Formats: sequence, structure tokens, C-alpha cells
Amino acid sequence: MENLLYIHIPFCDSKCNYCAFNSYTNLNHLKKDYFNAIKTQFLNDSEKFNITSLETVFVGGGTPSTMPLSFYENLFNLLNPFLKNTKEITIESNPNTSFEWLKEIKNLGINRISFGVQSFNDEKLKFLNRNHSSIQAIKTIENAKKAGFENINIDLIYATALDTYELLQNDLKIINSLPITHISAYSLMIEKGTKWENDYSKRKEDEKLEIWFIEQIKKRFNWYEISNFGNLCLHNLGYWQHKEYLGIGAGAVGFKKWKMENGKWKIFRYYPKRNIKEYIKNPINYKYEYLSNEDLKKEKIFLGLRSIAGFDENILNQNEKEKVNLLINAKKLYKKEKKIYAYDFLLADAITTYII
Ligand SMILES: C[S@@+](CC[C@H](N)C(=O)[O-])C[C@H]1O[C@@H](n2cnc3c(N)ncnc32)[C@H](O)[C@@H]1O
Ligand code: SF4
Repeated sequence: MENLLYIHIPFCDSKCNYCAFNSYTNLNHLKKDYFNAIKTQFLNDSEKFNITSLETVFVGGGTPSTMPLSFYENLFNLLNPFLKNTKEITIESNPNTSFEWLKEIKNLGINRISFGVQSFNDEKLKFLNRNHSSIQAIKTIENAKKAGFENINIDLIYATALDTYELLQNDLKIINSLPITHISAYSLMIEKGTKWENDYSKRKEDEKLEIWFIEQIKKRFNWYEISNFGNLCLHNLGYWQHKEYLGIGAGAVGFKKWKMENGKWKIFRYYPKRNIKEYIKNPINYKYEYLSNEDLKKEKIFLGLRSIAGFDENILNQNEKEKVNLLINAKKLYKKEKKIYAYDFLLADAITTYII
């Protein structure tokens, strides 16, 4: 059967002030052991779940670009038998990688690259504790294009204390001069376990500025999910459509629908160990989270309304259908070929809470 594949790389060169992702800056000596562990997990999962081919692959992190090329050569030797029909292979990268690294990973078959740019303003980059400069980011994006990448994403963070119309306008000007095909723009979240934990002074609460920024991005890039603009990322679309995916690596998440011997279906997420040392010791020691039909329905509505995926009206009961009809009349939702969509993805949370 065909699935999506997510591989987590839990290493970074430095830790950004806002980031709670599962990543380590002081365990580089474990990179070799980590490859062996993900190999063990991938071989186990692909056999256990009868995987014969991968629809999309996403190598995320942490910072996948901190891994040496030999890591990816070995990884693709492992994955190649499953990649005959693969439509999209994405890798995340810091925007300070060399032209040679970009060219080599392109040659391995990776066809989409995602740079953690965050901003083109050097003061803001320092504030976030990024280890790259604006000039480096510009050069790396140009190099990615020269290396043959047609699909280039940048991540941006907005709603930080330093943001102004002028700063964001300047970022947009630089973006418009570069061969970027996709933007993931995230409103800063103050997360537990980060340097900025509980420090809300690092955020700027200015809804008008946030909406203005989204409107500006929309001028050049198609808005297709609450944080995503431009050429569709097929892998993420697959998540929102509840396609099944393997989650490989420390802190990754997998999602499966499994037919039991009694003919009933089990729908579950599985979580390999988050701690890298524990993961390396036993990469196939999972925690399972079973989802009820109600859980799944809620997710379908929530994820569908946040994006162009929409959701099927048949999953609703009579009471919920009536609420949806009210929202259609109020021009908050629309229906097309028995699917329900939101006009404004920013309202998805509130609408979901109202419907169920
Ligand atoms: C795994 S990182 C991207 C790849 C690479 N590690 C990098 O930063 O260059 C995923 C993205 O999540 C976003 N992100 C992480 N923590 C965030 C937070 N607290 N608030 C908003 N966005 C966040 C950043 O835009 C970041 O680029
Ligand atoms: S944002 Fe990216 S580079 Fe920064 S700590 Fe998080 S994963 Fe690492």
C-alpha cells in the first residue's frame, strides 16, 4: 500500500529563542547511531504496514541540513525502492547551506526545499537568535534555484515585538525579488520549554497588522491553509485529508488505519520515543493514541476548514447540518459538490467549536 512518510531530524546548530521543536545542539556525536535507528524503524514499519510505495516524503526537524551528505546518500539507498511513484520529496534547511550541499541533495531526488528564513531583517534575526543573516538567506535561496529547485518554500515568523508595517513591507519587497514559490507564515507562539517561555513581551498583539501581512502575501501567493501560501505542498495536504503516514525518528508522529482480525478498524497515531538516546536504544518502542470516530470527525472539520481541503457534509448529524446551513446563509461557509469550505481560514477554530 501507499503512504506518506515523515522523517524527523532532531539536530540543530543552535537553538532559536522561540522554538519548542524536538531538537538538540549538543549531541552531534549521535548522528551515525541515529541513522541506524531510523533505518531499523523504517524497515520495521514498512514491513509491518505492508508499505510498497511512498506518495510524498518530508524530511523535517530540527534542521535536516545539519546532517552530512553521506547521511542522505545512505537514506536514499534505503528509500529508493519505495520512490518509483513519489510526487514530492521535501527537505527543511537552514538558509545558510552551501551551493554544493543543495546541488547534491537535488541530485538524490529531493524536489522541494523549505528554508527557515523567518525574516530578512538582521535585527529581528538576532532577536530570534537565528544563526544566519539576511544576505546569507538571499544568497542561499538564489543558489537553490541555480541548483535546480523549482519548489522553494520559506518559513516566516510574524507578530513579534519588533514587527512594524515598515519591517514587514521590506521583507515582502525582498521576497518579491526572489524565486520563492511558497510561504509558510506563522504568528509567533510563546511556547513552554523555550527561552521565551511565559514572556509575552516578545509578541506583538496587533490583529490589524497580522491581517494586513496576510493580505500582502496573498497578492502574490495563493492562500490555501491558515499558514500556507503558494504552490500546494502535497505532503501537508495529505495530512489535512487524513491520509496515512509513517512517522520515523525521535519525536515523529505516524497515523494509521488498521483492519483488525475481527474486521473492525482501528485508527491511531503512534509516537516513537522523543528522547534521542532512548530512541536510538529502541526505535520501535511506540506509544499509541487511538482515535474514536468522534475525534476523527472533529479533526476532519477543523483541518478541513483551515484549508482548501474542506470536509464532507455526510459526516455531520442533522443538528450539525442545520448549524452549517446557518453559516452558509451568513456567508461564512460555502458548499461545493457536497463538501463544505470556509471563506476565511482564520475563523476555522471558532466555527468548529460552534458546529460540534
Ligand atoms: C523545524 S523548523 C524549520 C527548519 C529549520 N529548523 C529552520 O528553522 O531553519 C519549522 C518552522 O516552525 C516555525 N516555528 C517554530 N517555532 C515557532 C513558534 N514558537 N512560533 C511560530 N513559529 C514557529 C518556524 O518558522 C520554523 O522555521
Ligand atoms: S526553528 Fe529550526 S533551527 Fe531554530 S531551533 Fe527550531 S528547529 Fe532548530
